[in-house]
Amino acid sequence: MTKIAVVEGDGIGHEVIPVARKILETLHPEFEYFPVEVGYGKWEQTGCPCADQQITELKTADAVLFGAVTTPPMKDYQSVVLRIRKALDLYANLRPVRGDGFDIMIVRENTEGLYSGIEEFSPDRATTLRVVTRAGSERIVRSAIRLVHQRKGHLTIGHKANVLKSDVLFRDICNSEAQKAGIECNDRFIDALALDLLQHPAAYDVVVTTNIFGDILSDVASFLVGGLGLAPSANIGDRYALFEPVHGSAPDIAGKNIANPIAAIRSAAMLLEYLGDSSGAARIESSINRALDQEGIRTRDLGGSAGTREFGDAVIREICGE
Ligand code: NAI
Ligand code: MG
Repeated sequence: MTKIAVVEGDGIGHEVIPVARKILETLHPEFEYFPVEVGYGKWEQTGCPCADQQITELKTADAVLFGAVTTPPMKDYQSVVLRIRKALDLYANLRPVRGDGFDIMIVRENTEGLYSGIEEFSPDRATTLRVVTRAGSERIVRSAIRLVHQRKGHLTIGHKANVLKSDVLFRDICNSEAQKAGIECNDRFIDALALDLLQHPAAYDVVVTTNIFGDILSDVASFLVGGLGLAPSANIGDRYALFEPVHGSAPDIAGKNIANPIAAIRSAAMLLEYLGDSSGAARIESSINRALDQEGIRTRDLGGSAGTREFGDAVIREICGE
């Protein structure tokens, strides 16, 4: 039996994830869905945002559907997302950006770089160590190369090797793996790449980069598709996989039934794709488009007035009416 762990998390996670789950349940009532509670809300109740118990539960699932968690800016609070990515070794963060005339896949290294967690803090000086390893770089670029083969596309490496030694290593490993694989590949400085991606999105296919650059680049690239409410992502390792919207818990709009659930619904489609149900994933995607185009139903961020649940219901109507 296929088991799906469902983590709502905090804020709008409690609104968009139930919608995405309902859509998965419509397509796959035979899956077992079970909730796992982590996040800031959990910390307020228990003093711990994510215990070993929850990591163990997540590991029993075939895939995790994840909302978002609030990370308060307190220096002793450990980010739940980072903890889960590390514990499940979800080293590849895939962030597709698809629109009219472009189809980009940002592949972000998810376990090291500036988010390695090696830090020192004092009132007058703080340091964060940026760790790039051969093993970490090889496995992420190999994931990217597999996607290039599947998509019959090409690879762009985003880096800042002109100032960062750690990126000289990253760039050289990526280039050498690409050459071995016989794929078309070029590399660019990440800042110039970010601007060019917005100006010429059709020129890009798979983009591989280090942790923080990928984090920023994918938020920026979501501008091409209408904002954060639309951008899904997958976090994939060799044994586990977790699917989540790119956006966070959005406390500014939480609890009002106005968040756009599309990013969460598309993350559910990526989950189905990962589990081998490509046609289910395609049905979700086309149903979202029909709900937007034919029913004219949109949430506030897209200029409409539909609620989170109402948009989800429209997608389900499209799925059931096919
Ligand atoms: P955010 O992504 O939550 O919100 C940024 C802006 O986009 C806000 O104005 C929000 O209202 C809007 N927005 C986000 N998702 C939306 C949606 N589905 N529909 C309509 N509008 C949407 O990022 P922010 O404000 O920087 O972070 C808020 C909290 O979320 C923080 O505690 C942060 O640490 C956390 N966060 C968690 C992530 C995760 O769990 N993977 C990722 C990013 C942030
Ligand atoms: Mg981000």
